[in-house]
Amino acid sequence: MQAMEIAQPGGPEVLRPITVPVPVPGHGQIVIRVAWAGVNRPDALQRAGLYNPPANASALPGLECAGHVAAVGPGVTRWRPGDAVCALLPGGGYAQYALTRADHALPVPEGLTLREAACLPETCFTVWTNVVQRGSLKGGERFLVHGGTSGIGTTAIQIARALGARVFATAGSDEKCETCLSLGAEVAINYKDEDFAARMRAADGADLILDMVGGSYLPRNIKALADDGRLVQIAFLTGSKVELNFAEVMTRRLTITGSTLRPQSDLAKARLATELETHVWPMIARGALRPVMDSDFTLQDAPQAHRRIESPGHIGKIVMRVDHDD
Ligand SMILES: NC(=O)c1ccc[n+]([C@@H]2O[C@H](COP(=O)([O-])OP(=O)(O)OC[C@H]3O[C@@H](n4cnc5c(N)ncnc54)[C@H](OP(=O)(O)O)[C@@H]3O)[C@@H](O)[C@H]2O)c1
Repeated sequence: MQAMEIAQPGGPEVLRPITVPVPVPGHGQIVIRVAWAGVNRPDALQRAGLYNPPANASALPGLECAGHVAAVGPGVTRWRPGDAVCALLPGGGYAQYALTRADHALPVPEGLTLREAACLPETCFTVWTNVVQRGSLKGGERFLVHGGTSGIGTTAIQIARALGARVFATAGSDEKCETCLSLGAEVAINYKDEDFAARMRAADGADLILDMVGGSYLPRNIKALADDGRLVQIAFLTGSKVELNFAEVMTRRLTITGSTLRPQSDLAKARLATELETHVWPMIARGALRPVMDSDFTLQDAPQAHRRIESPGHIGKIVMRVDHDD
């Protein structure tokens, strides 16, 4: 099959076409004939040599896809060849066929195309585990998400709204702020013009913050939290080492936590998939959540897709169409 490999750590140009064997499903696994592959910021980190795949995962990039089941391994009862699915992958999505666990796949939600469904797994798994499981977001709480127009941000705004939270978002342009508002944010803060911490203090502070920026945002996030507030860190785009006075964490009973999805156990991801099907797929069915699509590329255009995700211009998700010869 055709795939795109990371020839060596580096810029987008190190993504190169390669021919590799089609994977064979083992016990509890399925192989998906990929129609569309989602592109995520962690793919760019992996390409740069900063986010290595876990042991036993494909070295090819690609954390999510949608397509049709091509083959099922022993012990798989839920799926049959031909079923339309979207799935979280341990890697290997930049290819014509991708291998994953059967219980990390979900049905394509009714009303969504395969192109849209390919954008769901990585962001929905990440948002649900960090905002709901770890961050314990409740209806009526004030929720601040940074990077409001990222793939993660656009999903987090909609899921938090669907849960009845009051959503605040930051973004780097007025156009991006408009998108955040259109997705259900009550307030969108252009962080280039306005201090988000002061704005949140004026609104009595955030009960929960989802942050991917890190660096100088860490002390400002502490200021922006309400008493008993929680900060969930999912990335450090501007650095993970800062000087921080923890006295406020103690006196205002704050919680600082975080997680990464990829190294979590197969069982944890399977449980997450079940929660998504129970709680998030119905949000999609009733129109409360829809992926925000930025742009389409072909698999061979993976370097351009990476340039796009690393540029400040994109809003929402980037996908690659995977062609098959037959
Ligand atoms: N922990 C996990 O399990 C997990 C899983 C998936 C993704 N992630 C992380 O979540 C983040 C979003 O992923 P994605 O795929 O949705 O990526 P994305 O669409 O490329 O989003 C990145 C966002 O970061 C914002 N940003 C970049 N530099 C910034 C800066 N200096 N200050 C403030 N905002 C900045 C950009 O918005 P502006 O243009 O508005 O600045 C952009 O919307 C990435 O950092 C990714 O590594 C973590």
